[in-house]
Amino acid sequence: MTTFRVAIAGFGGVGRATANLLLSRRGRYREVYGADVRLVAVCGSRAGAVSADGLEAAQLATLEDGLSGPALIEESAADILIEAGPSDFRTGGPGLAYLRGSLSAGRDTIVISKGALVHSGRELKALAESSGALLKLSGAAAAALPTIDLVVHSLKGCEVLEVEGILNATTNYLLDAMTTRRVGFDEALREAQLGGFAEADPRNDTEGWDTACKLLLIANFGLSADLTMDDLDVEGIQSVTTERIETWRGQGLVPKLVGRLWRENGAIRAAVGIRTYPPADPFANIRGKDKAIRIVTDAMGETLAIGSGKEPLATAAAALKDLEHILAARTS
Ligand code: HSE
Repeated sequence: MTTFRVAIAGFGGVGRATANLLLSRRGRYREVYGADVRLVAVCGSRAGAVSADGLEAAQLATLEDGLSGPALIEESAADILIEAGPSDFRTGGPGLAYLRGSLSAGRDTIVISKGALVHSGRELKALAESSGALLKLSGAAAAALPTIDLVVHSLKGCEVLEVEGILNATTNYLLDAMTTRRVGFDEALREAQLGGFAEADPRNDTEGWDTACKLLLIANFGLSADLTMDDLDVEGIQSVTTERIETWRGQGLVPKLVGRLWRENGAIRAAVGIRTYPPADPFANIRGKDKAIRIVTDAMGETLAIGSGKEPLATAAAALKDLEHILAARTS
C-alpha cells in the first residue's frame, strides 16, 4: 500500500466538498490503486472553523497554526496539492504562490481555480516539466463538463479543427431565463447568485471573462496553444436587453454566450461572444445552468458533450478524477 499525503489550499464550498468526497472515497483508492490517501493539511481563512464531515481536525495542519499557506503545504510534506482557493486571472494571485511552490517542489498538483493558470500557464507548465510534477486542471476547465480530457484522451491523435462551447453556467442561465421565462436581466442574475454558481463578482461571468478563461485553458493545455487574454476578442451579455431577446425570439433564434477556437493560417484563434441558434441545434437546447462543448476534428467528425453536474460536488468530482489519474500514474 502506497501512502499519498494530500493537502487542500482553499477551504470554501469547493474545498470542503473536495475534502468530503475524498474522505468518502478512501476505500475505493485502497481497492483500485492500493493507495492509502490521507488528508494532511487544509489552508483557508475558514479552515479551522469549518471541518469536513468525518475529518479529524486534530490530525490536520491548518492556517490557524500560524504559517503562511504555501509554507504550511511545505511543512505538511504533502505529496499532492489540490488548489481550490481563489485566483485572479489579471494577477494570478493568491493561488499562484501555492502553485509555484508546489510545482517547484515536484509535488503533483491539481488546480481548481482558473486565474493563476490563465495568468501564468506557460511558467507553471515549465515548472511542472522541469520538476517532473503532474499538473492537472479538470476542475478549472469547466469541471463537470469534460473539455481538456475530451481533447487529450478521447480524441487523441485527431487534429482538432474547431471548438465551440457554452462554458459558463451563469450566462446560460441568464439568457435562458430571459428567453423562455421573460425574466429581466437583474432578476435572473439574482437567481444565479442565490443558486451559488455566479462568481463573487458576477461581471466575470456576464462580461464573458469566465468563458474566456476556460477557453484559454482548453487552448493552452488541451491544444498546446500559447494564448493570452490579449489574443481573445471577448464580448459578454451585459448589454443584452429584453428588446434584443424579443427580436431573436421573433426570428426563431436562441442566443447563447459561446467561446470558440478555430485554426487560421496555422495558428489557433479564439473569441467569446453571443451566437444565435435555430431551435433544432443542440446548443439551442442547453438549458438553465447546463454547459456544453462541440469539438470538430479531422478524423472523428463532430463530438458533443453536455454537462449538468451540480456545484460544488461536480467540481470536487472533477478534481478527484484528476486525483485518480495521478494515483494510477504513480502506482503503475
Ligand atoms: N461562475 C461560473 C459559471 C462557475 O457560472 O459557470 C465557476 O466557473
